Amino acid sequence: MYSTPCSPRGSRFSCLASVIANQNIQAIFQFNTDSSMFATQAITDRKIRFALVGCGRISNNHIDSISQHSEVAELVDVCDINPEALAKTVAKTGAKGHSSLSALLASTTADCVILTTPSGLHPNQAIAVANTGRHVLSEKPMATNFEDGLAMVKACEQAGVHLFVVKQNRKNATLQLLKQAVEKKRFGRIYMVTLNVFWQRPQQGYYDQADWRGTWNLDGGALMNQASHYVDLLEWLIGPIDSLHAYTATLARDIEAEDTAVMSVKWRNGALGSLNCTMLTYPKNLEGSITILGEKGTVRVGGVAVNEIQEWNFQDADPADEQIAHANYETTSVYGFGHPLYYQNVIETLQGKAIPDVDGREGLKSLEVLIAAYRSARDGVQVGLPLHL
Ligand SMILES: NC(=O)c1ccc[n+]([C@@H]2O[C@H](COP(=O)([O-])OP(=O)(O)OC[C@H]3O[C@@H](n4cnc5c(N)ncnc54)[C@H](O)[C@@H]3O)[C@@H](O)[C@H]2O)c1
Repeated sequence: MYSTPCSPRGSRFSCLASVIANQNIQAIFQFNTDSSMFATQAITDRKIRFALVGCGRISNNHIDSISQHSEVAELVDVCDINPEALAKTVAKTGAKGHSSLSALLASTTADCVILTTPSGLHPNQAIAVANTGRHVLSEKPMATNFEDGLAMVKACEQAGVHLFVVKQNRKNATLQLLKQAVEKKRFGRIYMVTLNVFWQRPQQGYYDQADWRGTWNLDGGALMNQASHYVDLLEWLIGPIDSLHAYTATLARDIEAEDTAVMSVKWRNGALGSLNCTMLTYPKNLEGSITILGEKGTVRVGGVAVNEIQEWNFQDADPADEQIAHANYETTSVYGFGHPLYYQNVIETLQGKAIPDVDGREGLKSLEVLIAAYRSARDGVQVGLPLHL
């Protein structure tokens, strides 16, 4: 287990910690930071061509995102093993249909293949796509165990293709403002962070809709599936985690994995925090929130899916404070509205104008936290990060 003392004032230690973390990542990957590792050329003289695998619930967000960028992007092929789901998507999009990924890969002209299949299928599908020299865009979570996640990153890097992992919630206006406040160090030292995901997922109408839901191999539970965007905020907003301790329980749903979980977290910068999530909230989704308490600032972003800034109080004023009133939005979907914005970065990256917001390595960070939480809950122990030394 990797665990280190934490300096209250932090900066020298944080620096050392990030050097250690970087060395660790380099050791795992023999990382080549040179952008020339991507052998493929920027696509500037035509539309970016996408293919989509898995025509279920979330596929609509991807299809709509591509239509919103129709001047520069198009969907050319779609695939599903369920003929009905495939037929509906072919009718909706006009893209060519395929009954298997291998059939799609044999003929597609796509530059990038989108994986909106059950989570545990993403690794093998990503590797198959990368081996044909195409970029991969994987829904979250990228994998259901850490080794599979590493394997997909390695395969994409070896093939010289991009691996994009969807984290569309990062694009929420509310969270963008919060990220900027953290980056400007407006909180001073961060003391405490609390995230709550109090949602409702019924047995009928959700878990029973598909065999893969709630299974260890293909899905995971409340942490891995529903709360994964909130787990992502732990590192993205606050920084590298030193260690965590989690409890999980399957209190009411008939699934293999957990419907309820709590996690206590200690960050390398000294902050303490917790994440509480359940899919059993009566009678419907109640809250998706983050509260940050710092030396010089207190912020709470709540609502049903971090869509409302409810407290924004800093010692020192900043021009960004004027944007607070405009950042809140009504949401009927806990998926939010981030997919089209996420696609903008993917498209610009493939056009050679941007670097990925969330690549495979960035995706691995929250996967690592999730796996650490499951190991902690299973073994009844505190787990230090990183998992691989
Ligand atoms: N970013 C988000 O906020 C968000 C929201 C919902 C779901 N997701 C993720 O998206 C993925 C899909 O979730 P969903 O809710 O759309 O699931 P779903 O069950 O509604 O859809 C999955 C589809 O994949 C198809 N499929 C299964 N195996 C296949 C295979 N081998 N080849 C081709 N197609 C196959 C199924 O027939 C189904 O149509 C999951 O990883 C999930 O975690 C992300």
